[in-house]
Amino acid sequence: MQRRMKIDYSCPVLYRLYKPEDFVALYAIEQVCFHPPDRFSRGYMRRLVEQPNSATWIAEEDESMSGFALVEWTREAELAAYIQTLEVVPERRGKGVGGELLRRLENSASAAGAALIWLHVDAENAAAIRVYQARGYVRHGREEDYYGRNRAALIYAKPLGVEQAI
Ligand SMILES: CC(C)(COP(=O)(O)OP(=O)(O)OC[C@H]1O[C@@H](n2cnc3c(N)ncnc32)[C@H](O)[C@@H]1OP(=O)(O)O)[C@@H](O)C(=O)NCCC(=O)NCCS
Repeated sequence: MQRRMKIDYSCPVLYRLYKPEDFVALYAIEQVCFHPPDRFSRGYMRRLVEQPNSATWIAEEDESMSGFALVEWTREAELAAYIQTLEVVPERRGKGVGGELLRRLENSASAAGAALIWLHVDAENAAAIRVYQARGYVRHGREEDYYGRNRAALIYAKPLGVEQAI
């Protein structure tokens, strides 16, 4: 029996670092993915992407932005990286874009010398929690009322190896 070949007509995903001209498209994704009071304001988001000691990765398909993710690093006892956000437009989810953006955040943080990467995630955000758990993040705690009254955050963290390749 002749088998039909399955052809994938979807565009390849291009991953690259943020450029200032990306801001409008990036913030449009924030508006799709989060609603007030969870949404970052435009000003806060701009400060995040422009700060030193951070990396913002963009996922692009057919010249259209399908997701982005942002990590920053600070020195406390040791250099640690914090994931500010990871966002993929609803119609492009479930195809590995979020996981690849996460991997790139880890590589940027690792290249900056961070030994650990961590984040807060809404305790009800099962999709995001699955992505983190599947990629080696371990739950380290819970903060009640972090996102507002009766909305807890879970803290997930992962040690970073220095030799991760991009
Ligand atoms: C969390 C979020 C970024 C995940 O993005 P995503 O692109 O769907 O993530 P992935 O595709 O990498 O992983 C999602 C699922 O798709 C599966 N998947 C990965 N590659 C795939 C492929 N090629 N084909 C089909 N499914 C695939 C993954 O296995 C994963 O399933 P699993 O969780 O059962 O293992 C996305 O849901 C989102 O933007 N949510 C709103 C914003 C948000 O809450 N962000 C988190 C802030 S803490």
